[in-house]
Amino acid sequence: MYARVARRLSEMPYRLVARATALPAVDGLRERRYRAALERHHDHLPPADDAQAVAFDALSRHGVATTDFDALAIPGAAAVIAQATALVADNLDHFRRSAARGRDFLLLPTAELMRRPDIYRLGLDPRLLDFVERYLGLPVAYDGVTIQYTVADGREVATRCWHRDREDRRMVKIAVYLNDVDGDGGPFELLPIPEPAGPKRADPFLLDHDAVIALADDAGIAAPISCEGPAGTVVLADTGRFFHRGKPATGRDRAAIFFSYFSSQPQRPFYCDRSGLTRADVRSLVDGLSDRQRRAALWHDRLPRRWRYIRPAAV
Ligand SMILES: [Fe+2]
Repeated sequence: MYARVARRLSEMPYRLVARATALPAVDGLRERRYRAALERHHDHLPPADDAQAVAFDALSRHGVATTDFDALAIPGAAAVIAQATALVADNLDHFRRSAARGRDFLLLPTAELMRRPDIYRLGLDPRLLDFVERYLGLPVAYDGVTIQYTVADGREVATRCWHRDREDRRMVKIAVYLNDVDGDGGPFELLPIPEPAGPKRADPFLLDHDAVIALADDAGIAAPISCEGPAGTVVLADTGRFFHRGKPATGRDRAAIFFSYFSSQPQRPFYCDRSGLTRADVRSLVDGLSDRQRRAALWHDRLPRRWRYIRPAAV
């Protein structure tokens, strides 16, 4: 109870800033700037990549694509997935203890993630950055990586509620399943309707399940898209424009890597930068990488000054 009140209070400044930036005059100005930036960057976008055409098309049309790293021609991914799988196995006790203490959102501790820098760096693969840049239409910010663990308790909490991410207008999240995921194993689900005008609600970034089903019905869609597949399945989704969730798992626990991207000048910077990695962590992880990779990871350095001093909201 007190924790919930404290959380609501801590969120208030962010809600106020979000509301201020949603005022028609401010929003209109920011929208014009966004359109101008898209236009300026259009001729600088990376060329289309045949290996990624199917996934790119699915993401563009439906907001989500289910594939794997071989199909995307990303080298070295199998070894990185094996490292992540081993880290999850090493930390099973930690996850289960945290779940038993009532934590809803289970993340691999960053100290563990730092033991295997290749996991973070896979998200900076040049072909992945090209893919994301083409989709966003703007230079890419890489917001890092998390490894999330979902206990099969059937509870609809945290990211298992239907929501859109608030960070930016368009976003790309890349999820990689670390175990086989079927309909009972907490698959990623997405409603393939961009920013639907749903029932009146106080928070336009949250929907209850019945509202999602009603929206799908109205649009003639049988059901939200459920992304199921064996370990190593890669799900690419625009979590900014489309409502999505991790379906509550009932059959078995689910472990997955999540890489997160948005434009280098995101719409709401105070909802970004929440992977738990410190700026010092990120600087050490990108040491020796290319300028482009470093720019994507260190996006925060080039934010307008007014945004740089606002601490990110709690997850
Ligand atoms: Fe999300």
